[in-house]
Amino acid sequence: MDIGILKESARQERRVAITPNVISKIRKLGYNVLVEQGLGLNANFFDSEYVEAGAVISDTSNIWSCDVILKINKPHEDEVDKLSKNQTLISFFSPSTHPDLLKKCAKDNINVLSMDSVPRISRAQKMDALSSMANIAGSRAVIEAAYTFGRFFGGQITAAGKIPPAKVLIIGAGVAGLSAIGTASSLGAIVRAFDTRPEVKEQVESLGGQFLTVSLDEDGSSTDGYAKVMSKEFIDAEMSLFKEQCKDVDIIITTALIPGKEAPKLITKEMIDLMKPGSVIVDLASQQGGNCELCNRDEITEYNGVKIIGYTDLPSRLPSQSSELYANNLYHILDELTPDNDGVININMEDDVIRGMTVIKNGEITYPPPKIKVSATPKTQEKKIEKLKPVIEKKGSFLPGFIAIFLLFLVGVFAPESFMNHFTVFVLSCFIGYMVIWNVTASLHTPLMSVTNAVSSIIIIGALTQISSVNTLSLILSGFAVFIASINIFGGFAVTKRILGMFKK
Ligand code: NAI
Repeated sequence: MDIGILKESARQERRVAITPNVISKIRKLGYNVLVEQGLGLNANFFDSEYVEAGAVISDTSNIWSCDVILKINKPHEDEVDKLSKNQTLISFFSPSTHPDLLKKCAKDNINVLSMDSVPRISRAQKMDALSSMANIAGSRAVIEAAYTFGRFFGGQITAAGKIPPAKVLIIGAGVAGLSAIGTASSLGAIVRAFDTRPEVKEQVESLGGQFLTVSLDEDGSSTDGYAKVMSKEFIDAEMSLFKEQCKDVDIIITTALIPGKEAPKLITKEMIDLMKPGSVIVDLASQQGGNCELCNRDEITEYNGVKIIGYTDLPSRLPSQSSELYANNLYHILDELTPDNDGVININMEDDVIRGMTVIKNGEITYPPPKIKVSATPKTQEKKIEKLKPVIEKKGSFLPGFIAIFLLFLVGVFAPESFMNHFTVFVLSCFIGYMVIWNVTASLHTPLMSVTNAVSSIIIIGALTQISSVNTLSLILSGFAVFIASINIFGGFAVTKRILGMFKK
């Protein structure tokens, strides 16, 4: 079969569906690849590279008659007219928001596979172009904000004065939000994030962000991997949280989306009034109406000194990178569609991924697909642990304490007074040592423990006072103690130095 790729017709689109890197892989699946002249120029891919990889440069009418058409953006009306009998189109399509387009394409045995309908299951991750593009958009949103913002992101102390770090609030910690958190923290900003799905807390923290919460106990996770619509109470609670944050943060990046629905309005004009002049809002939800009340699609709106960026073409602003990732996603889909590597597309409706993204099969609308459940979070396990905790605490609370007091009492009755003095100091040291280590954040355990090891090696002093003893046994024992303690001292500091070195840039 022939696969054809044309230049994208959408305004200001710089991406391209297939890059030279994947042409040879697609050819190994048994397909011929035809590309339009100058296909990848806007993304820095030259015709010569496509030809070298095995593609044929062809004219547009030839390409429109290929068996398979690969695109990025959904087809325009005039492009739908060019689709011919038995053809397969693979591109973004948004079937839920474009029912008319779906009806128009349902003709002449045509197949349409929608890139935005790839189900959210682990196996499909390599085919998930929504995630690839969201990742790029999130990172680029921070760069756009940094470009528009009048200050550094990272804090500095210079001879000319102190520069505070920028404070960034990310609303929605999905793929784009997490990517934005990572980029903003790596630029040195203080990053806070909020999401309706509490399961993302750890991911936010692992990227250097602080996860904000509201007091309402409502979980936004759903069984299809996307967020669900939240109750009015929850939206009100999160909006009052954002209102407080608006007084403090310099940059807000909003990514809160519910698939197929208008984006929730979370930042109002009243909240923007509270922001400092020079602040920036980047609204990544602007394609679906925007999270910010004053956002205008594809424009920068200025209100009260605050700039609101509503670009919808962020992945296209990094055209080489996004084209490479999109092309890889497409290759993996073609691989799935060509199990026999024979260059023939097999739309197997038994395959969850293929079924999910096939919105028209042989000219018939097959959207929406039956629901499949994704394995989102292992919540049941968390609950089990929570339930176990109090039982363990209750059992272990008083009994050991009573036993210890009773034993101490017995020792006190029979042991000599000097022994009791040493013994009390010993017990207290154990207790203080235990409390010091136990209350330290887990991530600091190793450096702290190695330092306390080193410090605790003060035992060496005791040994030194005994080393000149005339008693041979005391001499041997204190010599041995000096040796062991030295290992502890030098080893402890060496390990600490290495660990602390890992945190230095
Ligand atoms: P998205 O673009 O639909 O939504 C963005 C984020 O906004 C989500 O995290 C959502 O919880 C949040 N959100 C929605 N309403 C909100 C509100 N009112 N306030 C605050 N936040 C709100 O989602 P995205 O980024 O495409 O993916 C969400 C999750 O799905 C990912 O974090 C990932 O865990 C999962 N996923 C799984 C895939 C797979 O297994 N193949 C592929 C892609 C994502």
